[in-house]
Amino acid sequence: MSDFILETQDLTKEFKGFTAVDAVNLRVQRGHIHALLGPNGAGKTTCFNLLTKFLTPTRGRIVFAGHDITRETSAQIARRGVIRSFQISAVFPHLTVLENVRIGLQRFTGTSFHFWRGLTGLKTLDAKVLALLELVDLRDMAHLKAADLPYGRKRALEIATTMAMEPQLMLLDEPTQGMGHEDVDRVTALIKRVAEGRTVLMVEHNMKVVASIADRITVLARGAVLAEGDYATVSKHPAVLEAYMGTEATELQGAH
Ligand SMILES: Nc1ncnc2c1ncn2[C@@H]1O[C@H](COP(=O)(O)OP(=O)(O)OP(=O)(O)O)[C@@H](O)[C@H]1O
Ligand SMILES: [Mg+2]
Repeated sequence: MSDFILETQDLTKEFKGFTAVDAVNLRVQRGHIHALLGPNGAGKTTCFNLLTKFLTPTRGRIVFAGHDITRETSAQIARRGVIRSFQISAVFPHLTVLENVRIGLQRFTGTSFHFWRGLTGLKTLDAKVLALLELVDLRDMAHLKAADLPYGRKRALEIATTMAMEPQLMLLDEPTQGMGHEDVDRVTALIKRVAEGRTVLMVEHNMKVVASIADRITVLARGAVLAEGDYATVSKHPAVLEAYMGTEATELQGAH
């Protein structure tokens, strides 16, 4: 089995002659938290949308766990365990936290047998629900309506419903966007916890988050890979510093 759970080969997306993603060869190692970074307009979201099947590539290949998934739909890749959080996992605002997670589990058991293999012995659905709530630190808020949760806790609930689908590869699109310090720290810790035993690929702007949890970072600029490595390596990379010049260069340095 390859060390790389996800690989792209010459992944390219053109919009009317403009190349937003330019021959990207991305390799995400199994078990890693891998961050996609880059200045505004670098092609991160477009790249992410190609990987999650929101967009069709102009050229190139996407391989997940040895399977060519370039032409598969988001539903098909979800069955393979490639799950995008925050979009796919709709949260029902008028239901409680517990009901939301239970529905997430029930919905998933209807479409796949994979989940049941993960259950041991006589563990009931509710035990699984409680375990998920425990994992994301929402057990004491289980009976609150989802709508009444503070913002950062909503993200935790979304992660719990994503976890109900037993992802092998979790794709997170700016998970800490719009959050205050306390929520950022909480969600960062949560991502680290749920990343155990699986792989996470995340687009993230917050350098502090990237510095603290990313095992590997790919920096994009103008659609192409500019640098790759761990935080210490890419944050000192001259091309990266230049790409961020005048915007986040100080942040890049300061995060460490
Ligand atoms: N549907 C589209 N049609 C035309 N151009 C597009 C489309 N989507 C994105 N682009 C262009 O592709 C480039 C990359 O955009 P993308 O949104 O992927 O960047 P990004 O790295 O996510 O930036 P940001 O950090 O601002 O979110 C930009 O120049 C953008 O204007
Ligand atoms: Mg974007």
